[in-house]
Amino acid sequence: MKRNLPVRPDRIESDIDALAAITEPDRPWTRRAFSPLYLEGRDYLARRFREAGLEVRIDAAGNLIGRRPGKAGKGTIMLGSHSDTVPAGGRFDGIAGVVAALEVARALDEAGIVLDHDLEIVDFLAEEVSIFGVSCIGSRGMTGARPSDWLERQADGMTLADGIRGVGGDPVGTSGRADIAAFLELHIEQGPVLETERIDIGVVTAIAGITRIEIRLDGRADHAGTTPMGARRDALAAAARIVHGIEDVAAALARGPSHFVATVGEFSIEPNAANVVPSHARLLIDARAEDPAVMLEFRDAIAELCATVCDRAGVALASLRTISDNPATPMAARCVALLEAAAADVGATTRRMVSGAGHDAAFLARVAPAAMVFIRCTGGRSHAPEEWADIDDIALGVATLYNAVILIDRQPARDIADNTDNIR
Ligand code: GLV
Ligand code: MN
Ligand code: MN
Repeated sequence: MKRNLPVRPDRIESDIDALAAITEPDRPWTRRAFSPLYLEGRDYLARRFREAGLEVRIDAAGNLIGRRPGKAGKGTIMLGSHSDTVPAGGRFDGIAGVVAALEVARALDEAGIVLDHDLEIVDFLAEEVSIFGVSCIGSRGMTGARPSDWLERQADGMTLADGIRGVGGDPVGTSGRADIAAFLELHIEQGPVLETERIDIGVVTAIAGITRIEIRLDGRADHAGTTPMGARRDALAAAARIVHGIEDVAAALARGPSHFVATVGEFSIEPNAANVVPSHARLLIDARAEDPAVMLEFRDAIAELCATVCDRAGVALASLRTISDNPATPMAARCVALLEAAAADVGATTRRMVSGAGHDAAFLARVAPAAMVFIRCTGGRSHAPEEWADIDDIALGVATLYNAVILIDRQPARDIADNTDNIR
């Protein structure tokens, strides 16, 4: 259905295409945080922010921010997402939200609307798990949730502190924000629900908690041709059993009433040679739970699983360590309701949903009322080169965001922050 929207689909599409072109040529669509290509993408965005009349700066946490001053000093309505990608995926993941925010600013200008609030649009630094092994570096930094010891993390011959300096931030500076009246993020759903149910817009009620657990196993290197099967301490064979066990535990928990998934997404062994019994294995679990009690159950089950498998395999459990642990985050009830009203206003159908993916909004929710708009993506595919979202669906989401900004701008601050009806 063609709709008369207050935003320009052609402009949104051309910015998304321009960013897609800034990719590693052999690995579309790759623009890893802290890389030269990432900086190139940010230069493009900063230029487009300036062309839209925004005041551009990088904050201490390394976030790229465009500001459109309001007229009544009522605080800041913030919109944003991220322009970094996972390896070989992410033509729309994050990018759609940054371009959506930019388009809202441009459309407000064209409509001659000056808000009471300042409007800030943000490209948060390194939302995806970066080379430093952690995610949401910019949104954590902005909200005081970036542990200080992270700055010493090393990768590619630099520390995270060097990385933040490299994008123009100040790792020892603070970006603490108390002025944010509301934060909204548009994102592709990254799952199949909206497409399957033929619904235009998902309004997120909560973002699942994410816990990442590292397991290291120490076995013993031996000759692969001479060591009898019963005399081995094979770290890989034990790790494989653990991976299987994790899948079984996760599948059982996923049958419960709330969202739960777990993935072993990183795996490595040493010495990784054909004729040597593997001596070491490392795996990293990424687990997501809507209900913190289910996450606890998962962690207990994994500890028991590791102890049992290692005992049987004669392998030492060298480490079972939680690397990061962010609890499930409810979205602000008032913002959820305003997003639903904003979507209805452009004739979009909506449903409420929990996000299994992590987002910068989970950190902004610590300092401000926050909510998210999800749009359909083809086949629910994401974090893969095939990730796709149709421009008509994106534009409908951007129009929803635009309407929501205008609705929020008219609300008294205490109403936006009123969470008495919080979902969950
Ligand atoms: C972000 O893409 C995540 O890991 O959920
Ligand atoms: Mn992602
Ligand atoms: Mn994302």
